[in-house]
Amino acid sequence: MEATAQGAEVVCVTGASGFIGSWLIMRLLERGYMVRATVRDPANMKKVKHLLELPKAETNLTLWKADLAVQGSFDEPIQGCTGVFHVATPMDFESKDPENEVIKPTIDGMLSIMKACEKAKVRRLVFTSSAGTVDVREQQMSEYDEECWSDLEFMLSKKMTGWMYFVSKTLAEQEAWKYAKENNIEFISIIPTLVVGPFLMPSMPPSLITALSPITGNESHYSIIKQGHFVHLDDLCIAHIYLFENPKAQGRYICSSHDATILELAKLLRQKFPEYNVPTEFKDVDENLKSVSFSSKKLKELGFEFKYSLEDMFAGAVETCREKGLLPLSNGDHHVNGKA
Ligand SMILES: NC(=O)c1ccc[n+]([C@@H]2O[C@H](COP(=O)([O-])OP(=O)(O)OC[C@H]3O[C@@H](n4cnc5c(N)ncnc54)[C@H](OP(=O)(O)O)[C@@H]3O)[C@@H](O)[C@H]2O)c1
Repeated sequence: MEATAQGAEVVCVTGASGFIGSWLIMRLLERGYMVRATVRDPANMKKVKHLLELPKAETNLTLWKADLAVQGSFDEPIQGCTGVFHVATPMDFESKDPENEVIKPTIDGMLSIMKACEKAKVRRLVFTSSAGTVDVREQQMSEYDEECWSDLEFMLSKKMTGWMYFVSKTLAEQEAWKYAKENNIEFISIIPTLVVGPFLMPSMPPSLITALSPITGNESHYSIIKQGHFVHLDDLCIAHIYLFENPKAQGRYICSSHDATILELAKLLRQKFPEYNVPTEFKDVDENLKSVSFSSKKLKELGFEFKYSLEDMFAGAVETCREKGLLPLSNGDHHVNGKA
């Protein structure tokens, strides 16, 4: 096991500046890990200040420049690590060139990180996958588990909001499994559903654009949460560390604590935040719509316990957005029934 003079384990986290990466690093530092954080531009203080200000960052955190689109750029930060958390991903739903800006770097970057892990003899690689690898298909099923994979043909033909992201994650995870089996790499994938909660990064996290869409009236995101599934950012980050540390962990793990339809979510948001005039009705959503189960049975059977409620997730997210000036304190009569 690679360790420092003080005996602390050295791990690399990609996508360090982002919503999940930064919170994960905070939890890793708290637990005594030495963390190598990769970002595309370590000199961009707007993107790294929240990392440098974390407790223990001065002594236990280093920043490294690496880009998924640049072959071999993860070799250096990964050399000397026992573990890697591969969190980074391009997540531009509005991309004009999805093939080259989203899909290709996600797959090539995944493989480049796996090669770096192999060279460095990393003990375990934990990949942050996505529910988009599991449940994107024409006919919704009533329950999903780790055996399910999204339908690539359907995504490529329908081109729904976020399709390029779902395709990129599905292909990257499938390639990773193939590479891990062929090259004997200890690989775990964690499959979060929509991640919600308080956060460290200074700008609006991509997942909160979707999660808070009933508040902001961003209708193009409603389809993603029509029959939604949610996990608290802190539960997710603790689960990453749990799966890294647990010797019995193997394969894919769904990490999701709550299922809710958009109507159930809107009801909760109206009660908690009456000042946002959250709609009561949504286009193409029937009041009898049932929620779909996204099961974390495998993760719970391994011994992991979720701590947070759906209300905790949204209360934390809204509070942080307000503190950072990313969400107004109320909507007035801004939108009614999803219409701006
Ligand atoms: N949030 C969710 O609801 C959710 C749900 C399921 C799965 N996930 C997965 O969780 C991971 C993190 O998502 P997030 O919500 O934290 O998103 P995020 O805040 O956008 O973070 C993603 C990070 O990836 C980095 N990145 C983007 N393109 C890159 C490239 N070409 N090379 C290297 N780094 C690049 C960015 O860092 P820099 O710009 O600083 O380099 C960014 O900080 C992703 O893998 C995503 O698929 C998220």
